[in-house]
Amino acid sequence: MIKLEGISKKFGDSTALENVSLDIKRGEFVALLGPSGCGKSTTLMILAGLLQPTSGKVYFDGKIVNHVEPKDRDIGMVFQSYALYPHMTVLDNIAFPLKQRKVKKKERHQKAQEIAAMLQIDQLTDRMPSQLSGGQQQRVAMARALAKDPLFLLLDEPMSNLDARLKVDVRDEIRRLQLKLGITTIIVTHDQEEAMAVADKIAILQNGKIQQYGTPDELFMKPVNLFVAHFMGNPPMNILKCDLLRNGNERILRGDGFDYKLLSTKKLNTEFKGTKVALGARPHHLQISKVQLENSIPAKVVLVEQLGREKLIKVMLGDNENTTNFIRILSPSDLNVSYNERVYLTLDSEAIHIFDEETGKVIT
Ligand SMILES: Nc1ncnc2c1ncn2[C@@H]1O[C@H](COP(=O)(O)OP(=O)(O)O)[C@@H](O)[C@H]1O
Ligand SMILES: [Mg+2]
Repeated sequence: MIKLEGISKKFGDSTALENVSLDIKRGEFVALLGPSGCGKSTTLMILAGLLQPTSGKVYFDGKIVNHVEPKDRDIGMVFQSYALYPHMTVLDNIAFPLKQRKVKKKERHQKAQEIAAMLQIDQLTDRMPSQLSGGQQQRVAMARALAKDPLFLLLDEPMSNLDARLKVDVRDEIRRLQLKLGITTIIVTHDQEEAMAVADKIAILQNGKIQQYGTPDELFMKPVNLFVAHFMGNPPMNILKCDLLRNGNERILRGDGFDYKLLSTKKLNTEFKGTKVALGARPHHLQISKVQLENSIPAKVVLVEQLGREKLIKVMLGDNENTTNFIRILSPSDLNVSYNERVYLTLDSEAIHIFDEETGKVIT
């Protein structure tokens, strides 16, 4: 129902978006994810009609809307700052979009009160925004965005002003509300965990380009390149530079301080003829052993953090004390290892990823 086709946006000489294409179905919750400056807000502003793309087309329900005014686009928007009107009561803030539409006072107040109830702020409608907590202001902004029953909802980092715990509550609530209303929603966030938690699909951007568009599972389990692999997941995927050595049917990954033999079942893209690769392994796909096992990698413990349910163990590969070859492992919390202890790592070889180091593209 929403389609971006080859959208590019330039600000002077600098390119904020490059050939962005995206299909969003009715009722979907899509997250635009990526580091600061990657073009998320620019994409949202183009959807809202607040910015014009330099090239490319925006379609709503099959119709080109590039030249449709923001007020005629039938969208509700929530910004990071909430942008509530400070001199209006909560009720008038929520009802404001209806006032703009010339809905009669009694009717718009009734509608605003209904939405306030849905968001559990109906006890606060007489207050001024300055008399509300951050979480309550956030709900007022959501209520205002929903007041005119928009076709879709655009949220730009709507939780970034909330403290960590409240963030989780609010994001769950936004998702619950979105599912209940079935409203097509696009959220901008730099927080991969937030995107994974709420979205049906995630478009991950870097330098104005979409790197991958898919379900949270797809992005997490089948990242198409190093950027996506490293961005998704916390603690991040371990990435190790290696040489790929081929010896008959045997393939060895040789890195600084280790050799790792690939299982013969691990398929590599046959088009890849190079030798410089990066090995990617998530922290929970590595196991620590106190004894050397077949195909295990020797390491030395440099840090142990008890996280409660599990332990985060950081190890160093090889003997070079100046190495930058560190690996993070998530282990069961009852594993006892101590600082400086020599250990051996085994990799869950079905779960590892191998990338072409030069292009960053996955080759497994
Ligand atoms: N009005 C503007 N004028 C010039 N450059 C801008 C403008 N808006 C955004 N940019 C640039 O475009 C890029 C993408 O910005 P933005 O979409 O706001 O990123 P994000 O929301 O992902 O942090 C950044 O490099 C930013 O500096
Ligand atoms: Mg932004």
